[in-house]
Amino acid sequence: MPNVFKSRSLNVIEDLSINERRYFFTKVKELKDAIVSGDEKEMNRFRIDDPDFGIYEIFLEDSTRTKESFRNAAKFHHAKVSELLTSSSSINKGESYADTFNMLTGYQNSIFIVRSKVEGLTRWLSEETREYAERNSLLYYPAFINAGDGKHEHPTQELLDEFTFLEDNKMSFSSIHVALVGDLYHGRTVHSKADGLKLFDNVKVDLVAPDELAMPDNYVEKMKENGFEVNTYSSIEDYLKNGDVAKMWYFTRPQLERMGDKVLQKEAILRDSITFRREFLDKIDPETKFYHPLPRHKEHPTIPTWLDKTPFNGWERQAINGLYCRIVLISMIGGKIGDDYEPVPADNRAECDSDEYIVEVKSTNSSKTKNYSEGVRPLENGIVIDHICKGDNPSEIRDHMRLISTVLKIDEGRGGEWVSSGEDGKFKGIIFRPGTVEFSRKDLKRLAAVAPKSTLNIIRDGKVEKKYRTHMPPRIYNFDDLSCQNEACISHPMNGEGVPAKFYRTKDGHFACAYCGKFHTFKQIWKKR
Ligand code: NCD
Repeated sequence: MPNVFKSRSLNVIEDLSINERRYFFTKVKELKDAIVSGDEKEMNRFRIDDPDFGIYEIFLEDSTRTKESFRNAAKFHHAKVSELLTSSSSINKGESYADTFNMLTGYQNSIFIVRSKVEGLTRWLSEETREYAERNSLLYYPAFINAGDGKHEHPTQELLDEFTFLEDNKMSFSSIHVALVGDLYHGRTVHSKADGLKLFDNVKVDLVAPDELAMPDNYVEKMKENGFEVNTYSSIEDYLKNGDVAKMWYFTRPQLERMGDKVLQKEAILRDSITFRREFLDKIDPETKFYHPLPRHKEHPTIPTWLDKTPFNGWERQAINGLYCRIVLISMIGGKIGDDYEPVPADNRAECDSDEYIVEVKSTNSSKTKNYSEGVRPLENGIVIDHICKGDNPSEIRDHMRLISTVLKIDEGRGGEWVSSGEDGKFKGIIFRPGTVEFSRKDLKRLAAVAPKSTLNIIRDGKVEKKYRTHMPPRIYNFDDLSCQNEACISHPMNGEGVPAKFYRTKDGHFACAYCGKFHTFKQIWKKR
């Protein structure tokens, strides 16, 4: 069977399907048992054992556990392990990430482990280095492992968290009830849980954080879309008043380095609301387990050190599991194990559906007046875009019509915009332009992207020659005036990396950035003018 894991990148947890993750965890269990019992023969089944197999660590942000467990995992494989010292690299001379990593790809490296403040970096680099490998006729292309990107995701932490939860769940996938406690706003490890916990069939998540540190809406939305039961609480104290307290608590550190001055002023109060206190002990089940991706602060740990020697301590084993999970991940990406994995149809998540989103409709009525909405003087030749933002309020419709005109480059010349109210009492926008306006296929795609659910009428000699209805495109890319709104995203123009923006339609009709995952409405994906 071809190895489906070989040379695969892991940018977000969803890059591995649920079935693939379940396979991964059975392998981690086997490897852990082998290491714990000192079974060399069994360990060798996982070992790449090739001194030329290049594994590169590039940490553009601080790290202890992730970096060192990966380094030790790479050494387990007897591989060529390198590290780029970013403080003395040419990145500081203004070199782009693409140029830097392309170069390192050429030096016989198969896996890059990258941590950065820039969100979506590894996704971009995996695309770029593949093209570099092709144009330089390299016999391989590298895989990328995201070791944490800004506030976005931390998929390998997610794997080791899930493995530890599973151990405490008797390796059962049937259900999980977990409290996420702490800085849910900045913590990428909890953001990865929005898709990560899909591993379990029934999921209940309690979010325990003050407003300032609350889980961002798009992750809460995602959790709900994924069928999780989600409840929110503003502090541990508040949480413990609720009758149904989870037996798994996942703490995260207040990430002071990522907070603005305003939030920092309230630091002590915020920390207090998410720190465990002795008085809470008799309110939790004695079998409760605490987890933490670590580090914890030496003076202000949210899991106090007096808990270390109690049965609540799940975080030490969790961190050790990081080594086993990372050994197995490298083993799979290196193609050493995974041949026996049988893919299932659900693995091939279509990135988007390919439904037709520009539909030509037959114009049934050729009488001039009825072809246009009321109020628009019939055109002899020109275009009418109708049904724009139906249901929005008039001022929103007007604003958006201005954007449509600019995006379609029809803002010069005669014609006008119109807000009309239909028989159903809903407002809609109409743009009309007299003259010969050509609409290529690319223009139609632009129209669908900026004005989904509208109608385009092309008028010739007083008749509707062609009529199109637009729907939300499954993907939007390849237009140079698109932009992700997240300044931390690799594709944001401020980062100067020249990465073209790309969006995918989500189930609920948003457009998610292909790199950082940020949700946008179709109005928000265009560069600010
Ligand atoms: C976390 C991280 O870097 O995202 N730590 C880790 O990788 N173990 C959490 C943190 O920094 O608080």
